[in-house]
Amino acid sequence: MQDQRNILITTPIYYVNGSPHIGHAYTSIVADFFSRFFRQRGRRAFLLTGTDEHGQKVAQSAEKAGMSPIDFCDQNAALFRAIAERSSVAFDDFIRTTEKRHTSFVQRMWKQFEKNGWIYKGTYNGWYSVRDEAFYAESEIVDGKAPSGSPVEWKEEESYFFKLSAFTGPLLEWYERRPDFVFPEGRFQELKSFVQGGLNDLSVSRCTFSWGIPIEGTNHVIYVWFDALFNYQSALDTPEKFKSFWTDAKVMHLVGKDIMRFHAVYWPAFLAALECTPDTLSADVLERACRHLQIVTHGWWLSEGEKMSKSLGNTIDPFEIIERYGSDYVRYFLLREPSFGYDGNFTREAFTNRITGELINNIGNLCQRTFTLAHKSCGSAVPTRAPSHPLLEVDLQGEMEGLLAEFKINQAIEAVLAYASKANELVQETKPWALFKAGEQERGEEVIFVLLGAIFKIKEAIAPALPDFHKRISEVFGNQAFAPGIKLAPLAKVFEQIAPA
Ligand code: MSP
Repeated sequence: MQDQRNILITTPIYYVNGSPHIGHAYTSIVADFFSRFFRQRGRRAFLLTGTDEHGQKVAQSAEKAGMSPIDFCDQNAALFRAIAERSSVAFDDFIRTTEKRHTSFVQRMWKQFEKNGWIYKGTYNGWYSVRDEAFYAESEIVDGKAPSGSPVEWKEEESYFFKLSAFTGPLLEWYERRPDFVFPEGRFQELKSFVQGGLNDLSVSRCTFSWGIPIEGTNHVIYVWFDALFNYQSALDTPEKFKSFWTDAKVMHLVGKDIMRFHAVYWPAFLAALECTPDTLSADVLERACRHLQIVTHGWWLSEGEKMSKSLGNTIDPFEIIERYGSDYVRYFLLREPSFGYDGNFTREAFTNRITGELINNIGNLCQRTFTLAHKSCGSAVPTRAPSHPLLEVDLQGEMEGLLAEFKINQAIEAVLAYASKANELVQETKPWALFKAGEQERGEEVIFVLLGAIFKIKEAIAPALPDFHKRISEVFGNQAFAPGIKLAPLAKVFEQIAPA
């Protein structure tokens, strides 16, 4: 039976140390794609996004900007909200970790951890990367840098620790029960190898700066990842929301591959720690606490074949390209180009080729030709002669469901393109304009009926990727279900041409 549970879909909350780049827009667009897809199937989906505002990295950036941390956060959080809106990301909530609903929630969680015996005081001696906001073991340091390539510094400071090491065995046992916990499988294997190496206790507080959630009665603030992960629960700020979109729901966390470890190791451990003591910890507790969780990881975007970086000057500004091409084109390219889960390469050439070759020349051309004839020769209505035809029998939605159950986003889009190509072939073979010209009105109308039916299927299937296209084509059909005789509204242009790369 199909899973009909409500679904909570989350994006990572974005660090506000700088302005959004294309990688941030990407995660949110994928999350939005899935939430639209599930909603289309009648499932209740809650799309959560927001900003991660505490920690040393943000504090340092604020200082550099000569601003107070909170003014700096206000300024940049607004940019993240704006990019989500401009990317047509229909989020249900945008949480900021500086909000009271979040900070008090995290403090409550901290107390529960203490009560359950998971926290002890010690001294952290080791490597820390401010850029990654992560602690690294000596064995992970390569050429004086973190595995991510980020610079690290040696830290010695008093710290509270979380007994993460107790989780090594239980996590490994539980992972075996949940082969689909992390997508894609290969990355899950990497994660298991990391855990097999043995987990160290985790430093979960800092006392050498103050931009964080205070631990009451101490001079410490809570480690930014402990703080951040709980946004997924603190945002569900009424008992009804918590029950509907956590307790009884499926939870899909979309994250980039670089932050898998936090979501697939720390987060399950944190959730389980709320429900047991170190003595009663087991794989069963993990199962109970995390049974509904899935971590879906995606790859990174390269720009013209290279890692994006400010110093190389090859970062792609999402505001700029959306301003230039519109959100549908940008969404289309980002969803269509990479094999989901793996790295993608953003090149101007690939962008132009896909938009022109696939959207404009395939889907766009089909719509343009069909609508023109429907208006000119069929009285601006879906013809009433309704023949049966193999194109109308294709279960495009079913095909998409099968592919998307395995996160094959690009292949799902390809299925729509292949279908549109078949409809275009029908146009070539039957030449409906010639039929009308030759006075074969009935045959012409039959062809137009089939083509309009095909367009209707296409706009539904592609809707999660292209919300604007879906809206405009739905308006042509009077926002009604497809049926013989319904009136068709005019549409000036299906897709705008774009300049060659
Ligand atoms: N604040 C943490 C997340 C906390 S979630 C409880 C964080 N923020 S981030 O702003 O640095 O990154 C957010 C997301 O952007 C991550 O999923 C990351 O993978 C993604 N990307 C950052 N650069 C990227 C690319 N070049 N390409 C694709 N995604 C990338 O991590």
